[in-house]
Amino acid sequence: MCGIVAYVGAQRATPILLEGLQRLEYRGYDSAGIAVLSDDGDLQLKKTTGKLKELVAAVGAYEPSGSLGIGHTRWATHGRPNNDNAHPHTDCHGDIMVAHNGIIENYAALRDELLAEGHVFRSETDTESLAHLIERELETTNDLAEAVRRSLQRVTGSYAIVVVSRSHPGRLVGARLNGPLIVGLGEHENFLASDIPAILRHTRRMIALDEGDVADVTPERVVITTLAGAVVQRPITTIEWDIESAEKGGYPHFFVKEIHEQPDAVRQSLMGRIEQQGEDDKLTLRLDELDALAASGRLDTIRRVVILGCGTASHAGMIAKYAIERWARLPVEIAISSEYRYADPVVGPETLCITLTQSGETIDTLVATRLAREAGASVIAITNVVDSAITRSADATLYLRAGPEISVAATKTFVTMLTTLYLLGMWLGQRTGALSDETAQRLLADLRRTPDLMRATITGVTNDEGLGAAALISVADRLARCQSCLYIGRSMGYPLALEGALKLKELSYVHAEGYAAGEMKHGPIALLDPQTPLIAIATESAVYEKVVSNIQEARAREAAVIALASAGDTTIQRHADALIYVPRAPEFLSPLLTVIPLQLLAYHVALKRGCDIDQPRNLAKSVTVE
Ligand code: F6R
Repeated sequence: MCGIVAYVGAQRATPILLEGLQRLEYRGYDSAGIAVLSDDGDLQLKKTTGKLKELVAAVGAYEPSGSLGIGHTRWATHGRPNNDNAHPHTDCHGDIMVAHNGIIENYAALRDELLAEGHVFRSETDTESLAHLIERELETTNDLAEAVRRSLQRVTGSYAIVVVSRSHPGRLVGARLNGPLIVGLGEHENFLASDIPAILRHTRRMIALDEGDVADVTPERVVITTLAGAVVQRPITTIEWDIESAEKGGYPHFFVKEIHEQPDAVRQSLMGRIEQQGEDDKLTLRLDELDALAASGRLDTIRRVVILGCGTASHAGMIAKYAIERWARLPVEIAISSEYRYADPVVGPETLCITLTQSGETIDTLVATRLAREAGASVIAITNVVDSAITRSADATLYLRAGPEISVAATKTFVTMLTTLYLLGMWLGQRTGALSDETAQRLLADLRRTPDLMRATITGVTNDEGLGAAALISVADRLARCQSCLYIGRSMGYPLALEGALKLKELSYVHAEGYAAGEMKHGPIALLDPQTPLIAIATESAVYEKVVSNIQEARAREAAVIALASAGDTTIQRHADALIYVPRAPEFLSPLLTVIPLQLLAYHVALKRGCDIDQPRNLAKSVTVE
């Protein structure tokens, strides 16, 4: 999400920090800042909102001098993008500077505790509480690394941080938990960074910190400890990538990088929203962002839900409809934003409008949402971009926390939308009383397993040993040669078929359509012939047998069937020409797994056809015109 770079050595820190931040610019961000400790002990801070050139201009001729410093580009998760909320953040006296990437889940409790002790806060961020915690610990230990370790022991959440203190010249302290941080090793100088490109021009020798590591870094040495203070050794790696591959994390395209980021993106979406509490370790669902709307009483009159979105967002909504109706017993209508706004819709105070948009700027979704709101509907926005336009048309906003998505075709924002909709569906179910406590416990426990199941799915379909990769590549070969293909599924598998077809057509320009499997014999079956492959979503579900019947009907018309099935399903083998397996999972989680091979199929077909994968022709990431 955010980008971090830090330097300690003999060179001037400022140009190294600014260049490092420039190298992270491709990820997009909303504000940036640097803090540099001058040789005479002055800790200088510069922060700006917007593009990096604003920071460069602010630094200007009065460039902070000094050879120790930290820099940060922010992609907001807590608090709107402005100068106060930009990093680095400081303690009460401006003696400590902290740059942070991640989410401090218990920041509100920490903040209250520190405020009560008289600490003065200047921002709305979760990060600032860390600076004050370190300030407090430094009163009882004179060691910055120890103060950081003690402070982090109080923190729940995810973080990659770098810290400098006026009282510790020539020293950087970094730490990570569920957020990337690397140490770059130089000659009489060292670096810390969240991403390799930030420091690749200076060194290729790097150490990837492990979960819970704290690195104490001076120009001459790096000492890594656990959070408890035990010294640990981590291997040194030599990076062979050029800058361009480093930006893509070593992957050839952002699209495939972002596919691999999906388990972590879902983990971030769930962070702090499912809590284990009490002696019986009960799971509690928390959507604090909705508290004010719930307290207003406006949701008490809700009788129906409308989900608005376009493209991939509307597919996430279509899948979630099945879950929300089941859990909350509220009727859910899915509306494509561009249709809704001209449809003279039936909408009023009895409607909860859930509006989905990763960019938060899609004009059709914005206008449709305003229309619903003006008619009296309550609006909950689900978006990836903090403070984007949609948040101003909503009564409450849930952020996806997927991190910047650079590929035009959506991947990680699809799975995080679905995850967030599931959380919201359960929340509504608990409010309506339709979701029993027992079921909620089971669903929440299942949802918490999703990142691991997604990781296993990726390993399964990209791993040569398990033949997963071979199966996927041979299916991609076949699709790359065809003129047209069909995707089918039932229930939640139907919108997933739509999403699979959308990914294939937008990335590879192969014509593809998704159909509800039961609809095939009402027309589309006429399209089938040996040259038109059929991709069937046939994972375990209440409608599995029905999907198998539809596959048989297609095979009777000589169509080549590629089935996506649950691991261990041997019955399906005799009905399909090719098989791609995903791990077994509860039905509602299955789309979060099955979408992964669908995305990868589209990717490999597009690769074979030589398409521009990250920027397909005619498409834009934000559709801000009608
Ligand atoms: C497809 C894709 C688009 C977007 C759609 C809505 O891969 O990315 O279909 O889902 O343009 O965009 P947002 O979510 O920004 O409103």
